[in-house]
Amino acid sequence: MIEDKRIDLAKLPKHVAIIMDGNGRWAKNKGEHRMFGHQHGVKSVRDCTEAAAELGIKFLTLYAFSTENWSRPKEEVDALMELLVHTILAETPTLNKNNVRLLAIGNLKSLPGKCYEQLQEAMAETAQNSGLTLVLALSYSSKWEIVEAVKNIAQEVKDGNLTTDQINDLTIEQHLTTKEIPHPELLIRTSGEHRISNFLLWQIAYAELYFTETLWPDFDRTAFFEAIVDYQTRERRFGKTSEQLIS
Ligand code: IPE
Ligand code: IPE
Ligand code: MG
Repeated sequence: MIEDKRIDLAKLPKHVAIIMDGNGRWAKNKGEHRMFGHQHGVKSVRDCTEAAAELGIKFLTLYAFSTENWSRPKEEVDALMELLVHTILAETPTLNKNNVRLLAIGNLKSLPGKCYEQLQEAMAETAQNSGLTLVLALSYSSKWEIVEAVKNIAQEVKDGNLTTDQINDLTIEQHLTTKEIPHPELLIRTSGEHRISNFLLWQIAYAELYFTETLWPDFDRTAFFEAIVDYQTRERRFGKTSEQLIS
C-alpha cells in the first residue's frame, strides 16, 4: 500500500538512482564501528527496493561501491565484500517474491571471486522477473565506464566497422554499461554531501538532483516517498521555456 497520498502515480520517474552515503557517520554518532552503519544500511536498501517496486518504478540503481572505495582500509573493504555476498544470498528469495530482477554495473571482474559468483547466480535466478530492475553499481565509476566505451569505439573504428563520422550520442550510449537502462530522471544523495562522486556522469545529464541530510541507514520508505513527491514538483524543461511545455 502506498501510504503517501501526495504521490501522483501517473508522474513517476522510470528510473531512480541513489548515492547511498553516510553509513560511517551514522555509526560514529552511535559510538559504533563503521561496519555497524553498513549493516544497518542494508535495511534501507530493502526499504527503498520494496517502496520502488510497490510504486511501479521500473529501475532503481544503487551506488554500493565505487572504484575509489577500493582505497579504504583493507578491513573495511573485506567486510563490505563479505556483507555484499551475505546480503545477496539472503535477499534473493525476497527479490523473487517481489518480482525484482537484479543487474549489476561496474568492473565486476575486479570483485573477489566469491562475490562475483554470488552476483552472477542471483542475476541468473532473478532474470525472468518483470517488475522492478534493481541495478547495483559495484566497483563502478563513471570515468572507468567512459574510458571503456571510448576504447571499444576506437577498436570498432580501427577494425573498419565504424567511421568517425558515424559516432554520435547513440554510439556512446550503446557502449556504456547502462545501454539497456533508461537514464535516471531522479538522482538522490543522502548524508548532506552535494557531489556526484564519479557516478553516472553521462546518464544524469538531465536528471533532477535531490540532496537530503538524512544518513543512509535512516533513509526509509517514508524518506523515499518524500523524494518522489519533491521530484513531482519539478518542471523539467530540457532547455525549453515554461510556456512551450504548456502549449
Ligand atoms: C556509504 O557510506 C557506503 C559506501 C560508500 C560503501 P560511507 O561509508 O561513505 O559513510 P560516511 O560517508 O563515511 O559517513
Ligand atoms: C560514494 O560515497 C560512493 C558510494 C555511495 C558507493 P563516498 O562516501 O565514497 O563518496 P565521497 O568519497 O565522500 O565523495
Ligand atoms: Mg561517504
